[in-house]
Amino acid sequence: MMPNKFIAPSLLSADFIRLESEISMINSSEADYLHLDIMDGVFVPNITFGWPIIEQINQICTKPLDVHLMIVQPERYIQQFINAGAHFLTVHLEASTHLHRTLTSIREAGAKAGVSINPHTPVSALSEVLDLVDLVLIMSVNPGFGGQSFIKNSLEKIKQLSQMRKQGNHSFLIEVDGGVNLENANLLFDAGAEILVAGNAVFKSENPSETIILLKYRNL
Ligand code: DX5
Ligand code: ZN
Repeated sequence: MMPNKFIAPSLLSADFIRLESEISMINSSEADYLHLDIMDGVFVPNITFGWPIIEQINQICTKPLDVHLMIVQPERYIQQFINAGAHFLTVHLEASTHLHRTLTSIREAGAKAGVSINPHTPVSALSEVLDLVDLVLIMSVNPGFGGQSFIKNSLEKIKQLSQMRKQGNHSFLIEVDGGVNLENANLLFDAGAEILVAGNAVFKSENPSETIILLKYRNL
């Protein structure tokens, strides 16, 4: 099992007027990925941006892009997001009817395939796709907005998934997204997560690059 701890700051909470300097901060920080939230106003009650913006971000960001699609029928746009620079391309289980095909085609198109589940979806629903993914993203808030509170039973879901990974000898990474902060980061790593997404905790802090280090290494 990989003992690694990775941080993926979520650009959703950044200052978009100063996007270039926010990304420079990420480049020179200990962030491992840049998390990009793509919302369509249908799957979630919010709209963000699409692949043309990702393509531009990819020109200046030196960290691998972790693209989280909160859109219905994500299979329609796989190639566009991969061409734009997605390293991880994550789709929601609840948004793709033929999930098996969607995940397979992400890998075939050359990216790492991720699957995400909403807070109401049990980890057991993932059992038939665990061999097809490089990443499982556990949503620890209802997706749509930054700055929400962590839903407590997500911790239990991470533990269960970590157990399933061990039993099935799978190699996907476990990522947690929503309400991650300095108080719960260590618990999440201990429960079996490798990648923590953090929006408000990083970008709304006094010193974002220092916060990234604290999220990763501080032992509470
Ligand atoms: C929510 C997004 C998250 C969001 C997290 O739908 O998927 O990535 O940016 O923001 P925080 O860390 O502030 O909860
Ligand atoms: Zn996200």
